[in-house]
Amino acid sequence: MPTLTAGERHRISFRLNGRPVEVMAENRTLLSDLLRHELGVTGTHVGCEHGVCGACTVQIDGAPARSCLVLAAQVEGLDIRTVEALAPQPGRLSLLQEAFREHHGLQCGFCTPGILMTLDALLAERPEAGEDEIREHLSGHLCRCTGYATIVAAAISAVEELRKEQQDNA
Ligand code: FES
Ligand code: FES
Repeated sequence: MPTLTAGERHRISFRLNGRPVEVMAENRTLLSDLLRHELGVTGTHVGCEHGVCGACTVQIDGAPARSCLVLAAQVEGLDIRTVEALAPQPGRLSLLQEAFREHHGLQCGFCTPGILMTLDALLAERPEAGEDEIREHLSGHLCRCTGYATIVAAAISAVEELRKEQQDNA
């Protein structure tokens, strides 16, 4: 069996927000650290680094995942989406982001990127999600501003907007 040294770096290739990325990383490098320190994608926030707070949540192949619990080497060949991918273009917000802005769900904004990535994945899979479902998905996120009410209101509003959009396009 080959022996791996701590400082050894390996080439990792994956897709980041729709673009191919190739980067060198140590075996022990966490995805959260790779994104922030090597790739400069700092929208992903790091709180507890123990998989508890949810601040570091990104989407891996469309599913929300805590990037502080994933080794960078594990995402070889996968599709990673961070909060930077949500806005459709510079200066425009996504429907979900806009709902957070309108309902004061942003507050200090520290936990927001992770929450947005969880809710974005939920709405992609279940655009008709109800309040209970939204609360259940938010239960994996700790917000130190304790503002869950406005965050839930924003998510419910996003579901309603999504429904209107779908009706208009039908
Ligand atoms: S920083 Fe990853 S869950 Fe808290
Ligand atoms: S908005 Fe401040 S920690 Fe959640």
